[in-house]
Amino acid sequence: MKLNNKIAFVTGAAQGMGAAIVREFVSQGATVYAADINEEAITASVAPLAGKAHAVVCNVMDEASVQAAMERIKSESGRLDILVNNAGTGSVDSFLETPVENWDRVVGVNLKGSFLCAREAARLMVATETAGSIINFSSTGAATGEGPSHYIASKAGVMGLTRSLARELAPQRIRVNTIVPGPTDTPMMSGIPDEWMQSMIAAIPLGRLGQPAEIAHATVFLASDDAAFITGQNLTVNGGSAFL
Ligand SMILES: NC(=O)c1ccc[n+]([C@@H]2O[C@H](COP(=O)([O-])OP(=O)(O)OC[C@H]3O[C@@H](n4cnc5c(N)ncnc54)[C@H](O)[C@@H]3O)[C@@H](O)[C@H]2O)c1
Repeated sequence: MKLNNKIAFVTGAAQGMGAAIVREFVSQGATVYAADINEEAITASVAPLAGKAHAVVCNVMDEASVQAAMERIKSESGRLDILVNNAGTGSVDSFLETPVENWDRVVGVNLKGSFLCAREAARLMVATETAGSIINFSSTGAATGEGPSHYIASKAGVMGLTRSLARELAPQRIRVNTIVPGPTDTPMMSGIPDEWMQSMIAAIPLGRLGQPAEIAHATVFLASDDAAFITGQNLTVNGGSAFL
């Protein structure tokens, strides 16, 4: 097992990629704190994994909420080995009609949320002298520009956050990398009109959407000692839809 005895904090864990990552981490031997803003959904999602995954209600945009989650991990498990900053959100807005509140929410969850969770996780890792792994979630759209301005700006920002943290935290033996998914079959994609979906699939050389389990496998790799000399990098999982 690749993550035996590791303690992990996974955000946005109630559905989609986050839920798949929690399942895969548990199957690889980790104890997982599975966080989501949706209390009912996260409770239901971790129920089959009782004992190995703990539901945490946490809003990644809220400093006090993130600090409370990290305090719980510290008091129950004493340290944190892995942070997966998977929580994300989007909104379909044309640039000229983008409301400020949508900009604040999308950038807030995707970028500020990644910052807050990384800062609190790194503080705990440094205090406990733990050689950790932080994995941020961007999007292929951050490279191609395909998508709404707030989402793309936030996901490009996540790549920059990774690179800065990779340099600053390396002396403390904390690795920081970015998973870059392409279009993946999760609830986030469910509202997309069929015509748009078909043109998206047509642009993927491997000819299909990604599956959440495929993202989870790449996340296990970056979290594990197999990736011990990898930091500051993008790991793109997108069926060849763009080359980063
Ligand atoms: N699905 C795709 O095609 C795709 C493509 C590229 C990148 N991504 C990125 O991958 C990640 C996972 O995507 P997904 O498709 O599984 O998403 P999803 O929408 O299916 O699930 C996201 C989860 O995050 C939670 N969440 C939202 N706001 C939160 C907050 N403030 N605090 C805590 N939790 C919060 C939601 O409740 C939900 O459970 C996201 O960062 C997303 O932007 C997805």
